[in-house]
Amino acid sequence: MTAPQIKPATGAAYTRIHGVGGYRPVRVIPNSEVLNWIDSSDEWIRSRSGITERRWAGAEETVAEMSVQAAGKAIAQAGIAPEQIGGVIVATVSHLKQTPAIATEIADRLGCGTAPAFDISAACAGFGYGLGLADGMIRGGSAEYVLVIGVERLSDLTDTSDRSTAFIFGDGAGAAIVGPSDTPGIGKLIWGSDGSQRDVITQTQAWDTAFAKEDAVNGAGDETRWPALRMDGQPVFRWAVYEMAKVAQQALDAAGITADQLGAFIPHQANMRITDAMIKTLKLPESVPVARDIAETGNTSAASIPLAMERMLETGEAKSGDLALIIGFGAGLVYAAAVVTLP
Ligand code: UT7
Repeated sequence: MTAPQIKPATGAAYTRIHGVGGYRPVRVIPNSEVLNWIDSSDEWIRSRSGITERRWAGAEETVAEMSVQAAGKAIAQAGIAPEQIGGVIVATVSHLKQTPAIATEIADRLGCGTAPAFDISAACAGFGYGLGLADGMIRGGSAEYVLVIGVERLSDLTDTSDRSTAFIFGDGAGAAIVGPSDTPGIGKLIWGSDGSQRDVITQTQAWDTAFAKEDAVNGAGDETRWPALRMDGQPVFRWAVYEMAKVAQQALDAAGITADQLGAFIPHQANMRITDAMIKTLKLPESVPVARDIAETGNTSAASIPLAMERMLETGEAKSGDLALIIGFGAGLVYAAAVVTLP
């Protein structure tokens, strides 16, 4: 007797981003404020990173709140009802409550019914990882539309006395609705990891060593042991400049697109000098607009690509229907790149 065959699960042939939205916290932290914490200069921060200011979230601007605001804009732009969303993926490394996933609260508050909802930890590549998962879910037939959110409150994990990171990180949320398409709107995702470099960007301590269990139970945690993000900037910089340009080129090749056909280049906003080095290696023509959102937003990890995408569309730097090359890279180390059609 032959084994019964499982009915194949089939979904849309292709996918694309239907809408994008962002949320930027109200409080602006200019470089001048950072100089109260560390021995540095406005000139050094601008020339070494490209950052002039960043946004830091207030108490009310929680991971969930920022996500709901950003997602609301993406849903409106996509022109769909929240009930049509069949999956909510939240990429974050700074939601401090591990269980349950923040995605379920966000799905509930948005009115996404019983949509599967889960968090992923892929740092600055989180948005690309989420996009890849959403694409697979839709083409595999398990969802029609998927909400992908990149959200961070990195200020909670920033040691303001650490000269090598205090000026870099920012907070915010970016969201995208991924859904079916008649033509390919998300190229093959080139993604991966290099765990041998796991220590170059890392939380200083795990929560269990930061707070002794007895302290937690007694409510007597020692604030001096609060974990923060630590980064060994130079190796990350070198890896980003030399390895990530290759990954970006692979994403172009896999999509069958040449650099001059792009309507936008939207790299993770890690450092303006990394962006400039990638432009050179990719031989990106000057006519291709490049995301430089880091100047006003800092490095917002998983949120940086959708935030930059939203800004480029809002300012008219990039147009709906244009092709954009996106690439995220960061702690893990992890990376993800793809060519996408802008919503
Ligand atoms: O989002 C995840 C991925 N992250 C990244 O891709 C970040 C990659 N790394 C970077 O963007 C850069 O490495 C940083 C912006 C973090 C640092 O820039 P850098 O050019 O690599 O600086 P450095 O660490 O090599 O330091 C250069 C000099 C040193 O002085 P000397 O030894 O040359 O006299 C540092 O002591 O700059 C000094 N320095 C500072 N000076 C003023 C280091 N930090 C500061 C500071 N202000 N905040």
